[in-house]
Amino acid sequence: MTAVAYTRDELAKLLAPARTAFVPTMGALHEGHASLMSTALEYGEQTVVSIFVNPMQFGAGEDLDRYPRTFDADVAICEARGVDVVFAPSVDEVYPGGEPAVTVDPGPLATVLEGKTRPGHFRGVLTVVAKLFGLVQPDVAVFGQKDYQQLALIRRMVNDLCMSVEIVGAETIREDDGLAMSSRNRFLSPDDRRAAAVLSRALRAAQQRAEYGVAAARWAAMSELKAEPGIELDYLKLTTPDLGELADDAEGEARILVAAKVGSTRLIDNMPLFIGGDS
Ligand code: PAF
Repeated sequence: MTAVAYTRDELAKLLAPARTAFVPTMGALHEGHASLMSTALEYGEQTVVSIFVNPMQFGAGEDLDRYPRTFDADVAICEARGVDVVFAPSVDEVYPGGEPAVTVDPGPLATVLEGKTRPGHFRGVLTVVAKLFGLVQPDVAVFGQKDYQQLALIRRMVNDLCMSVEIVGAETIREDDGLAMSSRNRFLSPDDRRAAAVLSRALRAAQQRAEYGVAAARWAAMSELKAEPGIELDYLKLTTPDLGELADDAEGEARILVAAKVGSTRLIDNMPLFIGGDS
């Protein structure tokens, strides 16, 4: 039976003194989140899922107001996966007195990729994750690799600020045609939904050409993206695994990341690459 806490006090009362695995979410849960919960169950004796649409990580003109809110269905998914506690605080509960005066500065890694298009986003993400870590006091926290830059920044924060929580990055869960599962996919019209599949197709094309080098991988991905008029590309970027600049003659492990608008919905995806010979 999953217990639901709406306040900090209720949460504190529900938490047992046991190894705690935590899955922070913004709700609108899907199979991808369910898989994070399953991973959490492997790591902890007690599993906590938070459901909180964090206003601090949405910029002006972004989709805070239309972000899907499906609380009852979310709790049912947590229940089905055997989650012990759902923490579903209000905005006032998380930010009493409004936006905090002290926030987490995400540093230079937040100025590229998503951070370049969404200034302030990662400051909001890291601040709320730090607050949730403070409230839940987890031993382990599980995040999806779909938000690869977010995962990298959370690892960085935990390391740089000496937080004693183990961060686990879980594989991206995909639809049959490769589209990465996302709470925002529900906004896609049937035409958008068809067009959106090009993102993973492009990343896979890059993986297949990566043995011929960085330029070949990039070209393969761009050819796929250019052939789909239903998307508006924001970026396609090949990086080192930790999101650094990738030299044109690089070899070995790398990452490819893409962001695009499909209809009115912004989607992101990424995959690992191995440039050059066999991995
Ligand atoms: O990935 C998300 O859903 C959010 O960014 C997170 C980590 C729950 C913080 O609000």
